[in-house]
Amino acid sequence: MTGEARDVRTVRVELGERGYDIHVGPGLIAQAGKYLEPLLRRARVAIVTDETVAKHHLPALAASLDEHGIAHDEIVLPAGESTKSFAQLEKLTEWLLETGVERGDLVVALGGGVIGDLTGFAASIVRRGVDFAQIPTTLLSQVDSSVGGKTGINTKQGKNLAGAFHQPRLVLADTDALKTLPMRDFLAGYAEVLKYGLISDRDFFDWLEANLDAIKAGDDAARSYAIVKSCEAKAAIVAADERESNVRALLNLGHTFGHALEAATGFSSKLVHGEGVAVGMALAFDYSTRLGLCPSQDAVRVHRHLERAGLPCSLADIPGPLPDADGLIALMGQDKKVVDGKLTFILVRGIGEAFITRDADRGTLKALLGEREAA
Ligand code: GLY
Repeated sequence: MTGEARDVRTVRVELGERGYDIHVGPGLIAQAGKYLEPLLRRARVAIVTDETVAKHHLPALAASLDEHGIAHDEIVLPAGESTKSFAQLEKLTEWLLETGVERGDLVVALGGGVIGDLTGFAASIVRRGVDFAQIPTTLLSQVDSSVGGKTGINTKQGKNLAGAFHQPRLVLADTDALKTLPMRDFLAGYAEVLKYGLISDRDFFDWLEANLDAIKAGDDAARSYAIVKSCEAKAAIVAADERESNVRALLNLGHTFGHALEAATGFSSKLVHGEGVAVGMALAFDYSTRLGLCPSQDAVRVHRHLERAGLPCSLADIPGPLPDADGLIALMGQDKKVVDGKLTFILVRGIGEAFITRDADRGTLKALLGEREAA
């Protein structure tokens, strides 16, 4: 079936002059030329991708650009988190300049969160800022990292510590791309889908409980619905608070715990980002329950759902040694959201009722994080 005949839905990120559309649906990579053409000042783009994604999707993107008479240069970077580095940023920035990218040209990020974050950051600094479009090929990037303009790289001090806010001009989330995604990566992205239900939409959580099996089995309609709902939730939050002065911090539910656990496991395949978020969200519910804020049956539902999905949901699910509670709390202190040495936590009053707090009860936190052996 061609993409033309299939169902594409559009979510608008309302940011005035910098607003943009997220198109969600099957066959979008093969139609990219049609969507990109109206954004171009001249008929050329620079494509940034990685080795894995290039194999699956670059030929279809290139063919669509050719069909629309759009010239394209391509750079294929190594796949993996270590590509979000100063070294690759330098390489990419110099390559973009060598290809003659001008102000007003468009750079296209074809790939997952690593490629999107790195490309967006490079686009934000090349000639003091050129436009870019996101073609996210993983579930995680379709529902989170490609939307909202956070770009950046990791430094030796931690994840995403150097970066810029730079909004894309367009996002094309091709649901067919998920068919080539390994299940572990799909589930890592699913943790971010679930996050939207847990933050503010109990009905969506109920829907996810009812539709998890269909989503995992590859049901196109269920997957599209989940992605559109996620993008709508994220678009609304980004429109309300683009630079994370307040409500956008809610999107970090599970992330302060999750980033610390990713750091503790060396940002390795022991625990990929979405898995860290999954454990982090479960810990946020446990912590909130112990603080007497959240009914324990909601925390139990979250744990059960993560388990059913096949995601880790406790410290005991993480392979290999972990630092003790003090060590984990020290790693949490590396978080970008630390203000005056205080951690920002996203806690919950129940499913769909997340809130932001700077008051962490260290004793309860330490007890919770010290329970791995007992778990
Ligand atoms: N991933 C969190 C945010 O975009 O704010």
